[in-house]
Amino acid sequence: MSLVAENGFRLLPGRLDPAAQRDLLAEVMRRVEAAPFYRPVTPGGKPMSVRMTNFGPLGWVTDAQAGYRYQPTHPQTGEPWPDIPPALLDLWREAADAPGPPDACLVNLYDAQARMSLHQDRDERDFDYPVLSVSLGDTAVFRIGGTSRRDPTRSVRLSSGDVCVLGGGARLAFHGIDRVLSGSSQLVPGGGRINLTLRRAGAST
Ligand code: SIN
Ligand code: FE2
Repeated sequence: MSLVAENGFRLLPGRLDPAAQRDLLAEVMRRVEAAPFYRPVTPGGKPMSVRMTNFGPLGWVTDAQAGYRYQPTHPQTGEPWPDIPPALLDLWREAADAPGPPDACLVNLYDAQARMSLHQDRDERDFDYPVLSVSLGDTAVFRIGGTSRRDPTRSVRLSSGDVCVLGGGARLAFHGIDRVLSGSSQLVPGGGRINLTLRRAGAST
């Protein structure tokens, strides 16, 4: 068990250059027209400050009635989620070191007030698959600790184009977003940060 989860946490700063960031953002926004961002509600009944949508066969959702889970359709439109942008599938193949492809891409939209409290990603079936996350737009102050909530944490800035992987001993590391540095990037029209998180949610094939 690693305390600061160095083992398995990989940060690839600037993995996407500015042109790749713009292209990916365009692919994201095209899909968001069909699957709009919405504000999820925690199992405790509290609306989240982060807005979300998903791409891929399965999407991570939460509401007060049924809690955290993956489902194949958008909770508001009832439609299947759009496909995962091919550039993200390529990135997963190159950087994730996973036994197979992802089946879920959570899309988080942070405005200047949004935060995400410390949590583990543990609604997936197979923790041999890592979590790969891509940051676009404003810089985030990301916090990562160990596999126990009491482990020490450290702060890492995630800027537009940065990719990070939580695998191995860091797959179940506690992590969250303390805050977003508003105005630190011009990429997202109207400001803000978009984070794309690729995961294998269902049974591995
Ligand atoms: C998450 O843990 O789902 C999001 C992390 C991030 O926004 O970088
Ligand atoms: Fe997470």
